[in-house]
Amino acid sequence: MPKYQIAWMPGDGIGKDVMDAARLVLDAMKFDAEYIPCDIGWEFWCNEGNALPDRTVKALQGTTCGLFGAITSKPQDDAKLELAPGLKDKNLVYFSPIVKLRQMFNLHTNMRPCKSYPGNPLNYRGTALANPSGAEIPIDQVVFRENTEGMYGGIEFHPLPESVYTALCANPKMKPWKDKGLENIALSTRIVSIQGCTNICRQAFEFAKKTGRKRVTLVEKPNVLRETGGLMTRIFRKLADEYKADGIWADEANIDAICMWMFKNPQDYSVLVAENMFGDIVSDLCAGLVGGLGFAPSANMGDKYAVFEPTHGSAPKYAGQYKVNPIAMLLTVRMMFDWLGETQQSQQLESAIARVIKEGKVRTYDMGGKASTLDVAKEIAKYAA
Ligand code: NAI
Ligand code: MG
Repeated sequence: MPKYQIAWMPGDGIGKDVMDAARLVLDAMKFDAEYIPCDIGWEFWCNEGNALPDRTVKALQGTTCGLFGAITSKPQDDAKLELAPGLKDKNLVYFSPIVKLRQMFNLHTNMRPCKSYPGNPLNYRGTALANPSGAEIPIDQVVFRENTEGMYGGIEFHPLPESVYTALCANPKMKPWKDKGLENIALSTRIVSIQGCTNICRQAFEFAKKTGRKRVTLVEKPNVLRETGGLMTRIFRKLADEYKADGIWADEANIDAICMWMFKNPQDYSVLVAENMFGDIVSDLCAGLVGGLGFAPSANMGDKYAVFEPTHGSAPKYAGQYKVNPIAMLLTVRMMFDWLGETQQSQQLESAIARVIKEGKVRTYDMGGKASTLDVAKEIAKYAA
C-alpha cells in the first residue's frame, strides 16, 4: 500500500489544469501516494444541489490530506438560477465548498507564504524614489490567516430573523437601522473567539521561532473594531511577551495602513498574522509583490488534517486551455511535502521551481512567455525528479 492517501480535488475551471500539472510532477518525483478522486465544485451544485457531496466528505476522512485546485463560487441568486430544473424548487442554499471544508474539518490555520524567486520578471521593484536602482526587492513573507471564524464565519442574515432584530434593537446605537426597517437590513457578523485568536497567533509565533524569523506583525483594526479587534490584539500582545525571549519582535499594523506600508517597504515584513478577512486581503497584496496569483500557494491546516490549495480561483476564461501558471499549485505541493515531513522532496521541488524561474526559458503568459501549463510542469519535473 502506498505511504500516503491523497484526496484529489481538482474542482472547477483551471483547478483541473493546474492539478494535471501537479500530478505530472508528483509522478516524475515518484511520490509514494495513492490519489483518491473526490467530487467538489460548481458542477455538483448544479446537478445535485450540493457543491460538497457527502461522499466527498466521507472519502476525505479516509485520507492523509487533500490537494485541491480551485472552485467556482457565485452569489446566492445566481447560484439558484443555474440549478438543474428538478432542483430549482427545493429551497437549496449554496455555500462555498472550500469554506465549508475548512469549517467541517476545523482547518483553523491558513498559511500563505509569498516569496520572490530571483529572475521572475513580475517581482516587485518598488517606486523610483524608494528603489532608484530598479533591482528586484527580495520578499519572503508568510501570512497566517485565521480560517474558520471572523468575517467569513458564515453567520449572515437577510432579512434578519425577528429574534436577532429584537435583540440587536435593545442597543440604542441600532436606531438608524431600526428606522430603516427589518426587511431593509442585511447583516454579516464578525465573531471571533479567544480559542481562535490564541491559536492563530501562537501558530505565527511558533513558526517564527522554528524558522528563525525575527518579526511577527499583527494585522487588525482595533481602533474601530473595538471588541473583536481588541480581543485579538490583547491575545497577540500576551503571546508577544512570551516569545520575546526568543528574540522575536512583535508589532501591530492596521489593515489599511499596512496596504500602504507593504507597497513602500515590503522587505521589512516577515510573518503576518490576521483574522480571516484581513488575512485574505493582506495575502493577496503579498502575492502581488511576488508575481501575482500564479505564485501564491496556501495550506489549510487543522490539528490532524490539512487541505492544500493555490490561492487563486477557477479563472473561468482560461479553463481547460492549459494556459495558466502552474507554479502556485506546485508551491502548494511543496507545502504538502513539508506538512508530511518529506523535507528532501520539498527542497528538491523548490530548487527545481527556482531554477526554472531563473532560467526563464519556459514561461506561461503571465511571465511574458508562450509555454503551456504542462510545459512549465514538465520543465520543473525534469529538475525535481
Ligand atoms: P481567479 O483567481 O480565478 O482569477 C483572476 C485572474 O487572475 C485570472 O483571470 C487570471 O488573469 C489571473 N490568474 C489566476 N490564477 C492564475 C494562474 N495560475 N496563472 C496565471 N494567472 C492567473 O479569481 P476570480 O476571477 O475573481 O474568480 C473566478 C472564480 O474563482 C469565481 O467563481 C470565484 O468565486 C472563484 N474563486 C475560488 C477560490 C478558491 O477556489 N479557493 C479563490 C478565489 C476565487
Ligand atoms: Mg482571496
